[in-house]
Amino acid sequence: MKVLDRLLRVGLPLTVAAVLATVITVGWMVEPDRYMVGYAPEQPIPFSHKVHAGDNNIPCEYCHTGARSGRHATIPSVDACFKCHNVTRTDSEWIGQLREIRDSGRPLEWERIHDLPDYVYFDHRPHVAKGIACQECHGPVEEMDVVRQATSMRMGACLECHRGERIYTTMEEPYPTAPVSCGTCHR
Ligand code: HEC
Ligand code: HEC
Ligand code: HEC
Ligand code: HEC
Ligand code: HEC
Repeated sequence: MKVLDRLLRVGLPLTVAAVLATVITVGWMVEPDRYMVGYAPEQPIPFSHKVHAGDNNIPCEYCHTGARSGRHATIPSVDACFKCHNVTRTDSEWIGQLREIRDSGRPLEWERIHDLPDYVYFDHRPHVAKGIACQECHGPVEEMDVVRQATSMRMGACLECHRGERIYTTMEEPYPTAPVSCGTCHR
């Protein structure tokens, strides 16, 4: 009896703890890292930036209308797609699905790729106003069939650029600098 007693009192909690630790560790390791360069979730409609912004040269700000005027660049509504797709590729199965979504009145739930924690304040406006190209932070989106996170969005990467230490690919020196006080991005 004593052996069974000890097994239950010591063994059971130990087993439970070991199982929990395993579940948490595995869960943490398979959770896609939202800050990770390369993060490229599959989208409900295979919208290609290469086709739209690359091959057909549609300007970024034609669809992301907020980048210059608001904090968020914004994702275009399904209605905005039909400025073209009332006539373009109406035979496509995907455009058919898009029409069903529009007619249902439900929003299209695109998977977010870039998503900073709530305690970080980011605003597109001051960046766009300084002439920083979308590609400095988002990479060559016009070549991507599936958007992926192209550069680090960790604090160190924001600070490197704010200090003027980042090498730009689309701008000549002198590089612009920006405030680095904590309150700039944590308010
Ligand atoms: C015809 C409209 C259209 C054009 C033009 C366009 N985009 Fe997009 N963009 C979208 C849609 C729709 C999504 C959401 C689906 C996706 O992620 O592919 C998106 C997503 C994105 C995302 C990811 C958003 C997130 O979840 O983090 C970035 C970054 C982006 N676009 C940048 C650009 C840049 C840079 C350009 C110009 C080179 C551009 N886009 C041109 C429609 C457009
Ligand atoms: C300014 C015009 C324009 C807008 C706005 C636009 N598209 Fe397109 N789209 C095109 C063109 C042009 C093509 C390529 C047609 C071809 O294959 O020649 C295309 C192709 C596509 C295709 C591929 C169809 C297939 O089966 O090959 C999909 C899917 C698509 N668009 C989705 C969208 C979505 C979703 C939106 C809204 C977020 C959108 N488009 C907004 C012009 C546009
Ligand atoms: C200085 C770096 C930087 C530049 C330049 C930049 N972005 Fe972003 N973008 C970000 C960051 C950081 C996020 C994530 C913001 C968040 O999670 O609150 C983001 C998010 C986005 C998103 C998804 C969320 C939203 O804001 O609606 C889109 C779409 C986008 N950017 C498009 C663009 C386009 C188009 C341009 C050029 C006109 C651009 N970005 C320029 C850093 C940048
Ligand atoms: C490619 C360079 C670059 C990167 C990367 C960058 N920034 Fe900036 N940021 C700037 C520049 C340049 C300004 C404009 C400063 C000015 O207007 O004098 C700015 C301005 C800002 C401002 C407004 C500051 C103010 O009070 O005037 C905020 C907030 C900000 N950035 C947050 C961020 C965050 C958060 C990130 C990282 C996710 C980031 N930035 C990444 C270059 C960058
Ligand atoms: C230019 C923008 C910017 C400035 C300035 C900035 N931060 Fe951050 N901070 C970020 C971003 C973006 C994140 C989220 C991504 C990450 O954790 O790297 C973050 C995350 C953090 C975190 C959470 C880290 C973690 O691993 O969970 C802490 C703590 C923090 N910042 C403290 C500070 C302090 C203290 C200062 C001033 C010395 C400061 N930050 C200045 C952009 C900034």
